[in-house]
Amino acid sequence: MTTIERRGHRIRVLFAPETIAERNRELAGEISGRTGGDLIVIAILKGSFVFAADLVRALYEAGLSPEVEFMSLSSYGAGTQSSGQVQILRDIESEVAGRNVVLVDDILESGRTLAFAKDLLVARGAQAVYTCVLLDKPGKRAAQIDADFTGFSCPDLFVVGYGMDVAHAFRELPFVGVVESAGD
Ligand code: IMP
Ligand code: MG
Repeated sequence: MTTIERRGHRIRVLFAPETIAERNRELAGEISGRTGGDLIVIAILKGSFVFAADLVRALYEAGLSPEVEFMSLSSYGAGTQSSGQVQILRDIESEVAGRNVVLVDDILESGRTLAFAKDLLVARGAQAVYTCVLLDKPGKRAAQIDADFTGFSCPDLFVVGYGMDVAHAFRELPFVGVVESAGD
């Protein structure tokens, strides 16, 4: 089992870079097979920025030419427990009425973040809103939502890396890992 040391913590690798890259290629194939043209990819910041960057390039390799937009949502603050309240910190600049949207997020957990974003875009008149997440943690779902495209099912652990953070740290890790507590 691979572990690395950073910031005085041991981090255990859950999903390795090459495993993620391979899955991204498969996801891009699934997305190109199921969504129509005139696609707009909306990355939900901040946690999805690395996944979205790799996914849109995989979409290019799959022959798609999506527009790419960003929306910054927050439900967590600086802690590791969801507050249950989703806030728009920064909205997209594009009109989505009549468009096919792929919402991209890092993790589907309670589902509140993705359900909020999907409802918002549907209310703005999007023709179709697909959802794509790197990780699904099915154990804590509170909102009735499943992703249309899922990278991996993830154990119910707090994960970091590949864009995901604890208080903005560990986003740079090229893999998804778990911070092990002292003594683990
Ligand atoms: P939900 O609204 O409960 O589905 O939470 C989803 C959001 O919480 C994701 O967009 C993540 O940013 C964040 N999140 C949930 N679990 C984790 C985790 O294990 N590590 C880092 N962020 C997480
Ligand atoms: Mg997030």
